[in-house]
Amino acid sequence: MVENDFVPAGYTAQSERGKVTWRAPSNIALVKYWGKRENQIPANPSLSFTLDACNTTTSLSYEKRNGKRTDFSFELFFEGKAKDDFKPKIELFFKRTKHYLPFLKDYHFKIETSNSFPHSSGIASSASGMAALSLCLMDLEKQLDPDMGMDFMLQKASFLARLGSGSACRSIQGNLIQWGAHSGIPGSSDQYGIQYPFRVHKVFKNYHDTILLVDKGKKQVSSTMGHNLMHGHPFADNRFKQAHENISRLKPVFADGNLKEFINIVESEALTLHAMMMTSEPYFMLMKPNTLEIIHKIWEFRRESNSNLCFTLDAGANVHVLYPEFEKEKVHQFIKNELIVFCEKEQYICDRIGFGAKRLKSVSDNLYG
Ligand code: DP6
Repeated sequence: MVENDFVPAGYTAQSERGKVTWRAPSNIALVKYWGKRENQIPANPSLSFTLDACNTTTSLSYEKRNGKRTDFSFELFFEGKAKDDFKPKIELFFKRTKHYLPFLKDYHFKIETSNSFPHSSGIASSASGMAALSLCLMDLEKQLDPDMGMDFMLQKASFLARLGSGSACRSIQGNLIQWGAHSGIPGSSDQYGIQYPFRVHKVFKNYHDTILLVDKGKKQVSSTMGHNLMHGHPFADNRFKQAHENISRLKPVFADGNLKEFINIVESEALTLHAMMMTSEPYFMLMKPNTLEIIHKIWEFRRESNSNLCFTLDAGANVHVLYPEFEKEKVHQFIKNELIVFCEKEQYICDRIGFGAKRLKSVSDNLYG
């Protein structure tokens, strides 16, 4: 599939008004996306676990507009309240996607969105949020083109979500998603995420991710700014090459369930991401002292107990603790006893690998009625 395959040839049906609702999960990258080119094209391929408990639910109510339409028309509600400061992000998303969704200016939209996790948790909602909105728009497009197949619908939703926020393209399906062209992965593409096409050992099918909320404040440097700092970064080329290699190295790890090697790759990826931040110009650091305390505790626990827990980080201070189902009790105990003291207000979120976005029944089918 190339970009032009997502431009519709025309629609065979009509829809005057309606409402659709989708819930899309967050995801945590094992191999990190950090650096991008024009049009949200990633500088390197990435690979993620789709999550489950952390998700965004979005309802899209739509009503056909009359008269000449030169602009987009929408209202935005976040957790029940009008949220005008999110509007520029949606406006930009509509601008980037209008070529692929030619009906966008034909409707007035009411977008109502909410997260399962607290807004000020330091957990980015852009991935799940853009994924949920893209699915709502694809749901509407499917009504205009009833012959559209489910596979195409999901692929285009991933494509659109990417245009909103890169990592969002990995939040449509479960449970292991690859985004970005990689010579060893058939079907991989810079345009959208795909389900990892090779064998995945059962140990990875119900992996846990406990997110330790170390710092719930707003980050000083956004991901978008961080990506930009990879242009002209002294280590960029090697880093991009390394991401390709790590994806290749993970193939036998996923097939055989080799947890020791999994840990080596995943922790190295997390620290490399932050090393890129610390060696950017200007440099910056998103880890906090408690992030490091937790990392050292995890290493100590692993040395002493031969456990398979490990950590990863996203673009922030929070720590994702990853572990297999069979170690669940032991690790929960360790987290409670040793790690939550390093969390802001002792808060953490128990999540696990998930199966992708879901269509929900809308409470009311006709909001404007
Ligand atoms: C560190 O997808 O948030 O979480 O494309 O600018 O919206 P934009 O960036 P975003 O970057 C995510 C970066 C990351 C790594 C990852 O999820 O792969």
